[in-house]
Amino acid sequence: MKKVAVIGLGVVGSATAKNLKKFSNIISKRTGIKIKLALICDIRPNFKNFAKKLGVPFTTDIKEVLNNPDIDIVVELIGGYEPAGTIIKTALRNGKDVVTANKALLAASGKELFALADSLGRIVGYEAAVCGAIPLIKNISQSLVGCEVDSVYGVLNGTTNYILDRMYKDRIDFSEALKQAQVNGYAEKDSSLDIDGKDTLHKLCILSYLCFNVWPKYAQVFTEGISKISLLDVLYADELGCKIKLLAIGKCSGNTVDLRVHPAFVPADKPIGQVDGAYNAVSFKTYPAGNLFFYGEGAGGTPTSASVISDIVSIASGQKNVSRKLESVKFKNINDTAARYYIRFTALDKPGVLSAVAKILSEHKISISSVSQKEQCQKKYVPIIMITHKANERALRAAIMKIDKLEFIKQPTQLIRIVNC
Ligand code: HSE
Repeated sequence: MKKVAVIGLGVVGSATAKNLKKFSNIISKRTGIKIKLALICDIRPNFKNFAKKLGVPFTTDIKEVLNNPDIDIVVELIGGYEPAGTIIKTALRNGKDVVTANKALLAASGKELFALADSLGRIVGYEAAVCGAIPLIKNISQSLVGCEVDSVYGVLNGTTNYILDRMYKDRIDFSEALKQAQVNGYAEKDSSLDIDGKDTLHKLCILSYLCFNVWPKYAQVFTEGISKISLLDVLYADELGCKIKLLAIGKCSGNTVDLRVHPAFVPADKPIGQVDGAYNAVSFKTYPAGNLFFYGEGAGGTPTSASVISDIVSIASGQKNVSRKLESVKFKNINDTAARYYIRFTALDKPGVLSAVAKILSEHKISISSVSQKEQCQKKYVPIIMITHKANERALRAAIMKIDKLEFIKQPTQLIRIVNC
């Protein structure tokens, strides 16, 4: 019998406690593995009733969990860096295995936490930290352990995908779509972790550990969120047969790793272009397993609790930790990458504008593939859309910087990478 304590009764914690109670008999019948939810902990005393209804002892004192010799597995679901980091380290040192969904903490301190767990012969399960219910971690760390992963492309954040999807389907601005995301409980009141791309960054750092054997520092991953995406961009993407997605991209070539998070035009008819609503998806290019695509619910208490419970069962079944031996790699700077780009200028509608813009692009060796300006009666400023051929990012940025200084350019130029994944 493995005794489990859940710390933190947020959305994932309360769903985990309920479903652990509900499914422990079924798990035992299926596998013979016996698990008992033995203690629930939350610093908010009003959660005592929740625990009482489940028939599980409750405490507000984390030490009662960490110093309890009967608890075998500590499930940390409070999130954030501290006190979560100290709780996990103390639990490991006190001889307990740990399950966590804490992507921010793992992204920042996974290296130290996994090394500590290894040195103590303990396990840290983290299936729930990346893409909620999608069983990514076990698949990459176990099923694909004999494969090389060349690249990973993912929609790893449900909130931003929901926002971009609402903009597209309801023809609404970013701010209106964000409000809808908040009303429907996807985005937090402080939604910056999601919309600035940081949540996606945290998940990409964890995927990078599993796919490329490296823990990047945040500064080594170019990160751009979706707050500057306008309805106009979404509509132009549609005209080109594309959708805009906040992508996590990881690519490995030799000993160089290219990691980034940014919005991108992706083909609407490819699987990743069809990930709607708050869903997540990840595609991997591997050898010898070939191309793989995972899709499912990436957020929400109930789906995510399935991943937490799967880690608890794995630990209870005696599965060993197989942590990665880290490699020394170079990180590619975004300026050294190349892509096709969507560029939206906002310019005065008068003679010479287009030729001045085109001249600067040409001076920077940027070749234009298509240009579009729709007639807008009585509007002084108009959007000019250009799609480039493959261009170097450094050259493109230098050109845009010069163009944005032209007197007839009204606002900073929009630039979105086109990714054929
Ligand atoms: N804020 C996250 C999302 C929750 O929107 O995907 C799951 O990590």
